[in-house]
Amino acid sequence: MPGDFVVTPWEVKGQVDYERLITQFGTQRITADLLDRIRKITGELHPMLRRGVFYSHRDLESILSAHEKGKPFALYTGRGPSSGIHIGHMLPWFFTKWLQEKFKATLYFQITDDEKFLFKDFDNLEEATKVGYDNILDIIAMGFDPKRTRIFLDTEYIRHLYPIAVEVAKRITFSTTQAVFGFENANNIGEIFYTSLQAAPAFLPTVEAGHEVPVLIPCGIDQDPHFRITRDVAPKLGYPKPALIHNKLLPSLLGPTGKMSASIPESSIFTTDTEAQAHKKVTNAFTGGRATVEEQRRLGANPYICSIFAQYTYIFEPDDTHLAEVERTCKSGERLCGDCKEELWGKIRTWLKAHHAAREKAKDRIEEFVVRD
Ligand code: TRP
Repeated sequence: MPGDFVVTPWEVKGQVDYERLITQFGTQRITADLLDRIRKITGELHPMLRRGVFYSHRDLESILSAHEKGKPFALYTGRGPSSGIHIGHMLPWFFTKWLQEKFKATLYFQITDDEKFLFKDFDNLEEATKVGYDNILDIIAMGFDPKRTRIFLDTEYIRHLYPIAVEVAKRITFSTTQAVFGFENANNIGEIFYTSLQAAPAFLPTVEAGHEVPVLIPCGIDQDPHFRITRDVAPKLGYPKPALIHNKLLPSLLGPTGKMSASIPESSIFTTDTEAQAHKKVTNAFTGGRATVEEQRRLGANPYICSIFAQYTYIFEPDDTHLAEVERTCKSGERLCGDCKEELWGKIRTWLKAHHAAREKAKDRIEEFVVRD
């Protein structure tokens, strides 16, 4: 059926209607008023807020109120080990870094090696942990403040997480996980338990401080189901409900319904791509262009289905004026896809070079960031 799509923490299929997801998941839209309130505190809005890449939330007001009263809050986000980190994975990290800078918040960064083993992305748990460490290089390379960032792997930080996870697990029934995630009898019991581990870091700041610390979780909207459950159990355990701010998922370079995945290298730019590999992906990417140059000059192209325009919008063109110019010249036919791709490539290339260098340096910095039991 056209218009049909699926968004769960483990699967994103079809062309996602993000407005409909707000209704389906029961989250709140980020309104102009809320943006004004953020701007008053931060002085400027991150492009991902101005452009609605981060577009949905739960209880963001309460975080802003706490901050306005001088009460610190913590940030929490995470990543399941992936054999390749691509810019889609990094999208929430750019924004989280901005939040950390603007609000001087401590960031808890969970690496779920257990999750990716349980959900069969890895046959071998040690391999998941090892890949987790490789992914940590990309996280450190983002430039998070080492004094305010704690990265941990579930298998290595379990003594901190387990007492909280057990409290959470006791308040979640099997039928809740069936309703929320579609689990069945054939799912392994680790999968069924897993949500309680993803919930645990949301309460860790409060446990550590011995008093209520509000938590804000920036994440892809696909992760919301875990945190809907987390928020439901929070009051039963005497913890504040974590607030959320959700991003739309970066479209694949292969087109609006394409999946971005480590198993489909052409679908995204990966942090370990060589310049030649990345350049080729940009060159071959799906666009909203016409069949011939003549037609495009005459009729213009469609930026709204274009994976290249999405890259400009979501990440690589912070300047609104120039972005509007790209949009206008695309629609008018003044801009051709080849030139547009080369212009984008210039921006990606600069970023990729810097990231490669930072990633190399990160190899000596792991101990500044990683906490263990
Ligand atoms: N489940 C997430 C993934 O598949 C990892 C994760 C753990 C996470 N905790 C999180 C993501 C908090 C966002 C926010 O990558």
